[in-house]
Amino acid sequence: MNVSEAIDSRLSCRAFLDTPVPERIVREILEKAKRAPSGGNLQPWFVHALSGAALHELVAKVSALAESNPLGEATEYPIYPPNLKEPYRSRRFKCGEDLYATIGIGRQDKAARLRQYSRNALLFGAPVGLFFSLDRIMGVDQWADVGMFMQSIMLLAREYCLHTCPQEYWAGWYQVVGEFLALPAEQMLFCGMALGYWDEAAPINRLRTDRAALEEFASFRGFASP
Ligand SMILES: Cc1cc2nc3c(=O)[nH]c(=O)nc-3n(C[C@H](O)[C@H](O)[C@H](O)COP(=O)(O)O)c2cc1C
Repeated sequence: MNVSEAIDSRLSCRAFLDTPVPERIVREILEKAKRAPSGGNLQPWFVHALSGAALHELVAKVSALAESNPLGEATEYPIYPPNLKEPYRSRRFKCGEDLYATIGIGRQDKAARLRQYSRNALLFGAPVGLFFSLDRIMGVDQWADVGMFMQSIMLLAREYCLHTCPQEYWAGWYQVVGEFLALPAEQMLFCGMALGYWDEAAPINRLRTDRAALEEFASFRGFASP
């Protein structure tokens, strides 16, 4: 698989098979992903991998709490800017509509949407959960570094025939997750990521999200040839 194929075949997988992923493979992926760049080579990322009984314990804890509090306790950082402006607002809206349409959930069916949202707590059935944290002293530059590290993991996963779903959902449970992972006080949970083999037949995995046209986000000047 080349890089273009890895990029093109990566998608946010929301239905996994229960086929286990050996620790060796997760270690290999993380070993390779550590070549991700970071400003000043700070390597500001920490990743906590859970599987088996450890993952089940966390999933059970959060699923039980999510029953009475489906949107989570709170977040330590704003997931989206307040009053999201255009074109971002419409993109977010369309992404949600397209996602729920794959499984036949209509706009008005808030209960069904919430039930689907709550499947985040199960990591959509993935056998491995990765949880990303960084030191609280870090700023926007280092958060971008962690993003590059995460994308490296997601692309490497494709090389191993694995799929992923990055999950900010877990930021809504930062206290429970932080306690469970015994995160030191100076560490902040950023995000989770489901990792495993995809259920190719699952309708929800058929979602192929839109992207803006190149002209909307790129500009070009000064090239000697077209
Ligand atoms: C940092 C980050 C957090 C995300 N959190 C969630 C999440 O909690 N739950 C979820 O289902 N998808 C989540 N997503 C997936 C996005 O919705 C998805 O990347 C976007 O719609 C583009 O679709 P694609 O990944 O299939 O190309 C997240 C993506 C990123 C990059």
